[in-house]
Amino acid sequence: MKRTAVYPGTFDPVTHGHLDLADRGRRHFDKLVLAVLGNETKEPLFSIEERVALVREAVAPWPNVEVDNFDGLLADYAESVGAGVILRGIRAASDFEYEMQMAMMNRHLAPGLETVFLVPNEAYSYVSSRLVREVAGLGGSVDNLVPANVSRALKRRFSER
Ligand code: PNS
Repeated sequence: MKRTAVYPGTFDPVTHGHLDLADRGRRHFDKLVLAVLGNETKEPLFSIEERVALVREAVAPWPNVEVDNFDGLLADYAESVGAGVILRGIRAASDFEYEMQMAMMNRHLAPGLETVFLVPNEAYSYVSSRLVREVAGLGGSVDNLVPANVSRALKRRFSER
């Protein structure tokens, strides 16, 4: 039986931290699906189509990684793709409470669905999409924090504004 895991997120935009986690995760599963949340209530900087395209380009070298978008409950989405595991990253203790709450809620919704946490490379422990957007929007460099396609997309997006 194929072991499939889903790595969900907003990915607005995808960072080297996300990619480091996906690279670690993909070694433990036959298939890893990066699932980009579409129905975001917060106004994303990049549309769902843009976020999916940026993630897809960034994971292109990895044959067992797929990219998809989803709406609604993550537990339902995981079931629809036959995933038994949700993969999430914990960068620091401050991530823990939010991640535990989500893991418990997802267990309540789908008792057979396990959440697995991995720790990204410590070089990315301070990297978040929110800070990347803020720094790039203020003209700072995020070149070593995001892949080149994202860096270009950020420059384009902020030069349009
Ligand atoms: O990277 P993020 O933005 O912290 O990811 C959050 C995400 C997408 C994992 C979370 O918001 C989510 O799973 N949303 C789908 C809606 C859902 O299933 N909610 C209840 C479970 S906590």
